[in-house]
Amino acid sequence: MKALVLAGGSGTRLRPITYTSAKQLVPVANKPVLFYGLEAIAEAGIVEVGIVVGDTAEEIKEAVGDGSRFGLEVTYLQQDSPRGLAHAVLIAREFLADDDFVMYLGDNFILGGINQIVADFQTHRPAAQILLTRVGDPTSFGVAELDSLGRVVGLEEKPKQPKSDLALVGVYLFTPAIHEAVRGIKPSWRNELEITDAIQWLIDESRTVRSSTITGYWKDTGNVADMLEVNRTVLESIDGRCDGVADSGCEIIGRVQIEEGAEIRNSRIVGPVIIGAGSVISDSYVGPFTSISADCLIQHSEIEFSIVLRGSSIRGVSRIEASLIGRNARVTPAPAVPQAHRFVLGDHSEVQISR
Ligand code: TTP
Repeated sequence: MKALVLAGGSGTRLRPITYTSAKQLVPVANKPVLFYGLEAIAEAGIVEVGIVVGDTAEEIKEAVGDGSRFGLEVTYLQQDSPRGLAHAVLIAREFLADDDFVMYLGDNFILGGINQIVADFQTHRPAAQILLTRVGDPTSFGVAELDSLGRVVGLEEKPKQPKSDLALVGVYLFTPAIHEAVRGIKPSWRNELEITDAIQWLIDESRTVRSSTITGYWKDTGNVADMLEVNRTVLESIDGRCDGVADSGCEIIGRVQIEEGAEIRNSRIVGPVIIGAGSVISDSYVGPFTSISADCLIQHSEIEFSIVLRGSSIRGVSRIEASLIGRNARVTPAPAVPQAHRFVLGDHSEVQISR
């Protein structure tokens, strides 16, 4: 059994972060979201992993390397442009050879791993096995229609009128039958080779497509709200630990992880919170569900329910919440007069100001 991890794509929903870096490397509790997936794959006993990469290939390669630190053997598969999930399978043909494989979307997060799902697939060995979860608004997902016996009878990508509330989770298991399917389909209206069309092709050819509905936590971290939500969930289960320094003027409440070389001065930290190596927090409040990456500076500020990426600084800002702050960003108040806001914002930035 092999794994195919998709870490290309265009990441339009996470702009402007994705203009300069891969969305799969945005940290959740200070660890790239992609790493949680790789760990789950290793834990399921899979060793050979193909990672599909696009424009951000170099960054992904630098972060993951040869995979040995996860106990994996990684092969990189370059996709010329994001032509769809089924296209990723198409270009991985040689790597996958005639092995069964799990396809894992690199920006998806599943709590509890994939051991059970992989074991279930190996027992029944259908042509394809999909994972489903109930969602409130299925229109932005791949949606499955099941018959009265729970068999998959139809799939639709982002349907305007969904036939069920069962959305596809970004983990799929396939036998080599999928290769014929991805060659048999045509690009969709959005000019992508859709994996839903390939699975539908299998259904139409009377191949068995099993589904299991997961009740555990799953999120596609494709947008900021979901990213913050996954970060919140992961932080829920961290332990408190201090490998850095907190001076006597600090009040540390709840589970707070202070990484090596981090320094907290005269500040109130209310966990769960993680503060990355080499970061300095002074005269500030850091509230629940906040991840501060390495080498950040937070001074005379208040922040909660947010993710701050490496090398950023926040000085003199009274309250920040529900925010995703990119790498090396600087957030400061404007000089007192005149009454105007000054911005240097990347394309597709979103800023909310109080009037
Ligand atoms: P998506 O989130 O569906 O697509 P996207 O990355 O283009 O994002 P957006 O909708 O915000 O523009 O992709 C799911 C995962 O699969 C993600 O990790 C990117 C990856 N992917 C590829 O590797 N190749 C592809 O051709 C596509 C479409 C996605």
